[in-house]
Amino acid sequence: MWVSILPLWGAIMCVSGASIGWYQPEQVHLSYTGHPRTMTVTWSTFNWTPSVVEFNPLPGPPSFNLTAYGSTDLFVDGGPKHRKIFIHRVTLENLKPGQKYVYHCGSSLGWSPQFYFRVLQDGSSWGPRLAVYGDMGNDNAQSLSRLQKETQMEMYDAILHVGDFAYDMDEDDAQVGDEFMRQIESVAAYVPYMTCPGNHEEAYNFSNYRNRFTMPGNTDGLWYSWDLGPAHIISFSTEVYFYLKYGRELVAQQYQWLQKDLQEASSWTHRSERPWIITMAHRPMYCTNFDRDDCVKPDSTVRTGLPGGQYALEDLFYKYGVDLEMWAHEHSYERMWPVYNSTVYKGSPQAPYTNPPAPVHITTGSAGCRERLDPFFPLHREWSAVRIEDYGFTRIHIANKTHIHIQQVSDDRDGEIVDDIWLIKDKR
Ligand SMILES: [Fe+2]
Repeated sequence: MWVSILPLWGAIMCVSGASIGWYQPEQVHLSYTGHPRTMTVTWSTFNWTPSVVEFNPLPGPPSFNLTAYGSTDLFVDGGPKHRKIFIHRVTLENLKPGQKYVYHCGSSLGWSPQFYFRVLQDGSSWGPRLAVYGDMGNDNAQSLSRLQKETQMEMYDAILHVGDFAYDMDEDDAQVGDEFMRQIESVAAYVPYMTCPGNHEEAYNFSNYRNRFTMPGNTDGLWYSWDLGPAHIISFSTEVYFYLKYGRELVAQQYQWLQKDLQEASSWTHRSERPWIITMAHRPMYCTNFDRDDCVKPDSTVRTGLPGGQYALEDLFYKYGVDLEMWAHEHSYERMWPVYNSTVYKGSPQAPYTNPPAPVHITTGSAGCRERLDPFFPLHREWSAVRIEDYGFTRIHIANKTHIHIQQVSDDRDGEIVDDIWLIKDKR
């Protein structure tokens, strides 16, 4: 008699075994949708769960009396094991500008630790503070601890990561990506972590990048723009110019989108409200590093476009009066004089960054990765103003409609400010 029970017992074990899952939320990070009074929470689990965020305004003890629901997407990595990761996205709406909220995310199957964030202010009459860098990996992430501490000290309203994450997110069947997202949680769960793709995200048509982040617009974060205080910030992909195998039409689509976005952003109504136009993308137009990268070439692709001059970005950005162009890819810090067509255009000899007639370029790709730093070429180029071969990141304070403060922090020199300029636009 007892023998006949065994198959039944086995069936029960099997059913109960199937119900055991890995439901714990991890890799929590925030992003901004581009719509005022919102914040998106993104996280991962390794089994399907609903996507819920519970939150409440501070001060006061967490009551989690507000609830928002979102979507759960299955991301199947392109590696040999085709690992499955569930990506959860929940957008919180109707938040109070400037208000601090506590939240946790997950579902009744498991909740994350509690985190907090401050809602971005509305309008253009406030001064957002950003930390900006690229090329930060799991190994040798030299800037990370300072970024973690300073973010939790509420020194930043948002982070801009200018491409190249983890090294590389797809490696080891995307477990390197999981580890990276865990590693930045102590930054990205507190402030919007805004991104653009770099060459290290290329695998499987940028699938780890496209799936893991939640950026504004409908391009999987390849290109988008958003308003922040007195600035319009444009994020785009330089990689569409280098991986034509994923579709040459992407170059044209992005270029047409950039044209339209810049037209709108430089209209009188928009620009009088938000005079600053800032771009971010991975590979620079100009650099003086000692390597064979695109930016060392006099006619870099990012600057002059595809062969024949198609989709050239420098002319486009110059035409619409882009103020500041942030880049990475080179593992160093380099600030350029205002430059167009390889010619320096200083505002005046005494105040080169006051009303400059050409965009200012800054390359900040030294947050730290396993490839370490990139040295500079000994020869001087006249458009190159400052070169720093230290680990570090950039602080940008968009102080108001006329002033932007840019500082370079050195991790090698214990957080010392090693470059410091004001970009001024006082022609009214
Ligand atoms: Fe890169």
